[in-house]
Amino acid sequence: MSVLNHKVYVLLTAFSAVVRGAIATRPAVAVSPFAQKALTIVSSHPIVKSNPYTEWFARGEATIEQSRDLVQQFSVFSNLFLLAQLNKVINAPTIEEMREGKEILANEIGVVFKPKNQKRNGMSAGFDPSVVSTTGSVEGGVYSNRAAHFEWLCDVGHSLGMRFEDLGKRRLGSEATLHFCDKLFEIYGSEDLSVSLGASFAIEHWANAGFWDHLVDGFTKLNARPGPGVLLDDGTVSHTAPLGFWKFHQVLEAQHAEHTMDELEEAYACGRIADEAKFEEAANAMLDACAVFWAGLDATRKGESYVLPASSKAKFDI
Ligand SMILES: [Fe+2]
Ligand SMILES: [Fe+2]
Repeated sequence: MSVLNHKVYVLLTAFSAVVRGAIATRPAVAVSPFAQKALTIVSSHPIVKSNPYTEWFARGEATIEQSRDLVQQFSVFSNLFLLAQLNKVINAPTIEEMREGKEILANEIGVVFKPKNQKRNGMSAGFDPSVVSTTGSVEGGVYSNRAAHFEWLCDVGHSLGMRFEDLGKRRLGSEATLHFCDKLFEIYGSEDLSVSLGASFAIEHWANAGFWDHLVDGFTKLNARPGPGVLLDDGTVSHTAPLGFWKFHQVLEAQHAEHTMDELEEAYACGRIADEAKFEEAANAMLDACAVFWAGLDATRKGESYVLPASSKAKFDI
């Protein structure tokens, strides 16, 4: 990362922290009773309050094998998330919400956001996650294979000696990871708006609950750690993993969190949340599934086998 890019990154990270603080300390008068209740529900969920796996990873003590396991399971989640997002697009209740869903989907697969008020597509800098925009719209943006988030994650995998076939496929997912991915498809992508909005609200809070910071911290420490490195197929030795994938999402998700309360208020005011109990149940069920994903990784890193709770196997049927 260049000095300039580093400065931009530091500024964006500082901005993210301010956004998080603003959400946490938002005056109660600005929030409707329903939104306040929703915020209380997601903020008090165990996986939003603390994440033992990523807290451990942040210490930079993971072995190469443990790092590979994280990247592999994350790559399965990253790839299968596309199905959940497409399901959300297909089930969108309005053309505007369909477009919002496609912003996320198109950006995931490689369309770079074109910042507002920028006439050119701004891609002279390239498609590296350290330089592409985290704001704007895919409308007028440029597609590049190299801007696909999955390709950035493949770069991380390659630095750890992993190949394309070691990443992203459903068959590579643990039971815990697949449970999370299937619940995303089912709940986050639900046709029932009370359910999908509850899941969206929960997911955005989970994504801004600090786990990206932990993963950035962990990989930064691992990169600085002396060691023999990883012998790659081409005979070279890798000592560092690229940080762009993790840092891009760290900034992106802080921005998403900034908008979630407003989006929730709007959806509620428009009468889209017909069943408040369902909304709450979906938010909790989605976060339970997030917790399963991390618990699966935590069990593997400890050399334990993870047993999916029987209660989480049932189809979400409310
Ligand atoms: Fe992504
Ligand atoms: Fe998000």
